[in-house]
Amino acid sequence: KERGWISSHIYNYQGFWIGRATTLQGVLAFQQHFQAQDSDIILVTTPKSGTTWLKALVFALVNRKEYPFSGQDHPLLVKNPHDLVPFLELKLYLDGKVPDFSSFTSPRLLSSHLVYASLPNSVQDSESKLIYLCRNPRDTFISFWHFTNTLRLHYIDTSSIEEVFDLFCKGVSLFGPFWDHVLDYWKKSLENPKRVLFLMYEEIKENPEIQLKRLAKFLECPFSIDEEKCGVVDEILKMCSFENLSNLEVNKNEKLSTGVENKVFFRRGEVGDWKNYFTTKMIEKLDHIIEQKFQGSGLRFRYI
Ligand code: A3P
Repeated sequence: KERGWISSHIYNYQGFWIGRATTLQGVLAFQQHFQAQDSDIILVTTPKSGTTWLKALVFALVNRKEYPFSGQDHPLLVKNPHDLVPFLELKLYLDGKVPDFSSFTSPRLLSSHLVYASLPNSVQDSESKLIYLCRNPRDTFISFWHFTNTLRLHYIDTSSIEEVFDLFCKGVSLFGPFWDHVLDYWKKSLENPKRVLFLMYEEIKENPEIQLKRLAKFLECPFSIDEEKCGVVDEILKMCSFENLSNLEVNKNEKLSTGVENKVFFRRGEVGDWKNYFTTKMIEKLDHIIEQKFQGSGLRFRYI
């Protein structure tokens, strides 16, 4: 702990940072008790990489036969994606409780912010599918900084962008270091592409149709020619768009069961907002770290 920078509420566990005691208990209970099933689909991200969007896309995709897009009763119209695809350590096991999965239908849609090495053995040993979404570190940082300010996260004693940025560069962000998190899943996706799909926020933004089809193929539920003709791909993308989700009553005025307001998960939803905040010095500093950490990995971030 660095006094004056980080309050005593942040924990370093297995090399990554956890912001609350209840989450730490959640991580421990998740690691100890969770039994993965081969049919499980687990979405993983670092915070602020577009988790909410990914949850919406995968939920709509996997349930497209059960919940068609006509009418007003699609679950995404009345529930926040985090309620439909719950976090394991941040909701189901939060506070160390052991959840009852009996109401979950197969495939179970679940999510986590844990690094690969910290996932329970039962996940690592199963045939479950892992979908990892990453976002360029500049936009991830800006989104994270806004998030810490909006929620007044008490584990960081400061709201100044410079200080939160320095912490980020030292690896101190929720479930960070950012680079270890991303690299871990990147390597796994190369080693085992049938089990781990690696997606990038910027690529989904640029060509959502291609990325959604990639997702469908990975999950072994590709779109049929009929579905493509009927515009199902487009309907999923429209349903999950920032514009649609952020304007829904549920996401404007309601809260998650954990008390967090749904609206905090929708801010701008763009690539390149970092340009409004980053100084040349900040760009140089972060680029230097990213270059060192990702050297030889074959992974390249896109910033615009
Ligand atoms: P910004 O703060 O840059 O706007 P997470 O879901 O992991 O908490 O990430 C939140 C980020 O994803 C926020 O980024 C948010 O605006 C953006 N986001 C949320 N829903 C989105 C959507 N449907 N499409 C694109 N971006 C979305």
